[in-house]
Amino acid sequence: MTDILTIRRPDDWHLHFRDGDIMRGVVPYTARQFARAIVMPNLTPPVTTASMAAEYRERILAAVPEGVNFTPLMTCYLTDTTDADDLARGAADGVFTAAKLYPANATTNSAHGVSDVSKIYPVFERMEAEGIVLCVHGEVTSADIDVFDREAEFIERHLRDIVASFPKLKVVFEHITTSDAVDFVLESGPNVAATITPQHLHINRNAMLVGGIQPHNYCLPVAKRESHRLALRRAAVSGNAKFFLGTDSAPHLRGDKESACGCAGIFGAPYALESYLTVFDEEGAIDKFECFASLHGPAFYGLPVNDDTVVLERAEVEVPQSLPLAGNEIVPWHGGQTIGWRFVG
Ligand code: DOR
Ligand code: ZN
Repeated sequence: MTDILTIRRPDDWHLHFRDGDIMRGVVPYTARQFARAIVMPNLTPPVTTASMAAEYRERILAAVPEGVNFTPLMTCYLTDTTDADDLARGAADGVFTAAKLYPANATTNSAHGVSDVSKIYPVFERMEAEGIVLCVHGEVTSADIDVFDREAEFIERHLRDIVASFPKLKVVFEHITTSDAVDFVLESGPNVAATITPQHLHINRNAMLVGGIQPHNYCLPVAKRESHRLALRRAAVSGNAKFFLGTDSAPHLRGDKESACGCAGIFGAPYALESYLTVFDEEGAIDKFECFASLHGPAFYGLPVNDDTVVLERAEVEVPQSLPLAGNEIVPWHGGQTIGWRFVG
């Protein structure tokens, strides 16, 4: 039995840092485990230009603890009026690593997202030509579509056409939650990949709704039924290079989650690697963990793998019910539970 695991330092290919005090409070958790992270641009106002992204990157870097090496990889929030020249320049200057498609009103701070996906096809065309990765929140937003069907419907209404229309565009189908998404990614060419969060590997929708509403298990896309969770686990541990780590760590203060209209998002950063490794361990696939966490992401983005390593050991760790954050408190993913792995460093 493997009790100590040493792997190349991983990266987090999708998360939210926010801004201000919350950002300063959460960045150290991610920088402790990961060398790089794809940072979502859904601030208020959203990060829509290269200059906004460059400034945001500086604020994040200022929050990285002394002596820690951490590189934030910035994304451009696509809108109906995205300036493709600014995006291309930002990518050429090394400010933007990717651009993010939020269908308008799909999730937190997405009101400025794209109202009609076909409107930004010219931007996709430019991204394809420049080799800029497209990160996709893949859910339709129509009121008539059931929330549990929104990801599958997005594939049929939009993603198939995007991928067919721009065959060389690199697309990351983010935080996938369904077997439909797994199948779509598997059927697509090598330029279509997906990130998978720890929560969607651990829980199905019962964890959100049985025994009372569990706001700390609520995120978007919502967890689906068990058959989908099992499909995600198979994909994650398969060793297929199309699937890689992206926590979607999305900090919301405790009071904003435990509310009559609770925010969507799970704060996965503090125990992220422990959480994922527990799944790989349960699946008898510890040998596949390094490629999921540390190798597939850089390969897809065309970036080098990290030079240093991290160590995890088998040990019981009690995850605190809540953590102090910005003079307030936040509930981490696995809060109040005991997990079977410890991040050594
Ligand atoms: O649960 C989520 N929270 N899903 C998202 O897509 C956005 C995120 C957030 O920003 O809070
Ligand atoms: Zn997200």
